[in-house]
Amino acid sequence: MDPIREVLRAGALRTLKKREGLIDLTSNDYLGLSRDPSFQKEVVEKWNLWSESISQKTGSTGSRLLTGNHRYFEETEEKIATFHGFESATLFNCGYMANLAILSSIPSSQDTLIADISIHASIHDGMKLSKASNVYFRHNDLDHLEMRLKNRKGKIFVIVESLYSMEGVPTPLQAIANLCQRYGAQLIVDEAHAIGVLGEQGEGYVAALGLQNQVFACMVGFGKALGAHGAVLLGSHLLKQRLLNFARPLIYTIALPLPLLAAIRCSYDRFPQMKKERRHLHQLCKQFYFSSHIHPLLIRGNAQAKLASLYLSSKGFDVRPILSPTVPKGKEILRLIVHAHNSQVEIASCLSAIEKWRSK
Ligand SMILES: Cc1ncc(COP(=O)(O)O)c(C=O)c1O
Repeated sequence: MDPIREVLRAGALRTLKKREGLIDLTSNDYLGLSRDPSFQKEVVEKWNLWSESISQKTGSTGSRLLTGNHRYFEETEEKIATFHGFESATLFNCGYMANLAILSSIPSSQDTLIADISIHASIHDGMKLSKASNVYFRHNDLDHLEMRLKNRKGKIFVIVESLYSMEGVPTPLQAIANLCQRYGAQLIVDEAHAIGVLGEQGEGYVAALGLQNQVFACMVGFGKALGAHGAVLLGSHLLKQRLLNFARPLIYTIALPLPLLAAIRCSYDRFPQMKKERRHLHQLCKQFYFSSHIHPLLIRGNAQAKLASLYLSSKGFDVRPILSPTVPKGKEILRLIVHAHNSQVEIASCLSAIEKWRSK
């Protein structure tokens, strides 16, 4: 059957939407950094300053391995590695590419990848590209993970998110790191939704727990709380050397452009200081008994989830539906996201609008 007819029948046709002028309870701009005019000004100023001293202006002109590299890249990587307490950081054009890069280039055909079943699509895709065997363990289920670790083959890589993007629940990271240590497995942590939010300085869950020595690699994305774009893989010097030599999503693509690098640098100068914003965000989550800034509301059914989202937009709130197959069928949600720029009144009004819609 025509695949578009199939998704139409499942009520899962993806289209581009533009909703403006609504209260943001949906974006990944968790700290409100991307919308902050003073941050935008700082980025432009840094970009202007840098572009005076190097010949490359807007485009990076080549892969990092060719003409796309210059001192600002290496300086930025060193700063980021130091901030997170790792030996090295390697920049990627986005988190999706970073995840494809590590999984496709590091494990060999003798190895095994074990991932949480609720892991992000970019990890699933990276696992498909990898030559290693792939298995999954039940979401946040330590016993099931241990069972998988016992039936291992070759070197093992365990892959988790520090905070899951759909459920908004943290992973039991310390316990997982301990299990990995016991079984000699390498732990890879995706910090896309934790960076900027978790930890005193927004350093993420790995650094907040001081687990750098138990983590093989950590993916930090800049497009969410950090208000920028791109990502790094944090790890050892050896990991960086392997990535530079074997990671095709790094070797065979143009390097990040300088304006984005400037945004990343400005973000790292800023977000560790944003304690007031983090405190407000955590306070809001506590007031509403949310386990994190990502709060899923089960709606069930693609059609219903879409209708609920439209209803909320008619009331002035932007809350997007997450449909199957992104989430399993029957587990469709409205994903309500709390930001530092939201108020208690906004969240309370949105929740009561949802209740009203549910009781219709
Ligand atoms: C958990 C997780 N990992 C990786 C990515 C991909 O990051 P990026 O958007 O920078 O490609 C996302 C983005 O949606 C994500 O939620």
